[in-house]
Amino acid sequence: MEFYNILIDWYLQNKRDLPWRNTTNPYHIWLSEIMLQQTRVAQGMPYYYSFTKEFPTVFDLANATEEKVLKLWQGLGYYSRARNLHKTAQYISNELNGIFPPSYKELLQLSGVGEYTAAAIASFSYNEVVPVVDGNVFRVLSRYFDIESDISQPATKKEFTALAQELIPKDNPAIFNQAIMEFGAMQCVPKNPVCSVCVFNGSCFALQKNKVALLPVKSKKLKITNRFFNYLVLEDVLGNTVIQKRTSKGIWHNLYEFPLLETTEIADFNFVSKAVQDAFFSQYKINSIEECSDATLIHKLSHQHLHIQFWKIKIKDQIENGINKQDLKTFPFPIVIHNFIEKM
Ligand code: ADE
Repeated sequence: MEFYNILIDWYLQNKRDLPWRNTTNPYHIWLSEIMLQQTRVAQGMPYYYSFTKEFPTVFDLANATEEKVLKLWQGLGYYSRARNLHKTAQYISNELNGIFPPSYKELLQLSGVGEYTAAAIASFSYNEVVPVVDGNVFRVLSRYFDIESDISQPATKKEFTALAQELIPKDNPAIFNQAIMEFGAMQCVPKNPVCSVCVFNGSCFALQKNKVALLPVKSKKLKITNRFFNYLVLEDVLGNTVIQKRTSKGIWHNLYEFPLLETTEIADFNFVSKAVQDAFFSQYKINSIEECSDATLIHKLSHQHLHIQFWKIKIKDQIENGINKQDLKTFPFPIVIHNFIEKM
């Protein structure tokens, strides 16, 4: 039997029933694929339901405010995906009359749509014969064929894409693409796959050579930077506070946060209180400054570890245009700040 026959048979017997697999609507496929980038299915699923409910069509998404889109995306991370999603929805509804580009090549022109996403939409929605190549596909093919190419190198992607293009059945590309991703997610998993029950255990080259744990080869390790964030949570006599929008490029662009004192190491009380009184809130009469130590945490992003401390600063004045607790909850926040507010 061909590779694809075995793979597809396995898929039909083992696949999870996922909502985006019961549709060919490119809008829904697009939403799901953007949400599932760097995200597990279990985490992405509730967001898929809330987005398709709140924005049943691409026009609904286009007409929403960015703040509403970010609020609904809150907790899913990598927020540039949400901002691109929104912009691209506006482009599709305004410039393309709500109709998705009809081919892989044209889908690639959309902002936020790379080779992987374009291939997913083109194959799942239009049955175009283009292979998806993501981390799952690298793993499955590198092991099955014992390929030692370094997946951190751009040329390797070309190599795997060409291989997948040879393997994909021309009469059913969609099911092949779903199957290979599902196989990577469920069976050919990164750590300790159970090869004894694998349908490929008679033909997998890595298994024969006892190299499963060594593949795929990835040379470049991510460099992680540590950052130290001190959030200054002001509270005036009415219980109101102050927040600001993060307009700078980089993490959490266009999300909200409390005034931020970033330091080069963990800050102590003396350092923070001096900064608060001399610089941040010199216009107010400070009543007390207190570290909310039960809220200190390390928030891990893909390239950065954020060491976050919250400091509650009570003042004797009334803040002009302060925000009350009720209104506070309507803004989109990074999930760490949202959790802090929920506990506040
Ligand atoms: N991860 C990315 N795309 C997926 C899909 N279509 N089904 C399951 N997991 C996925």
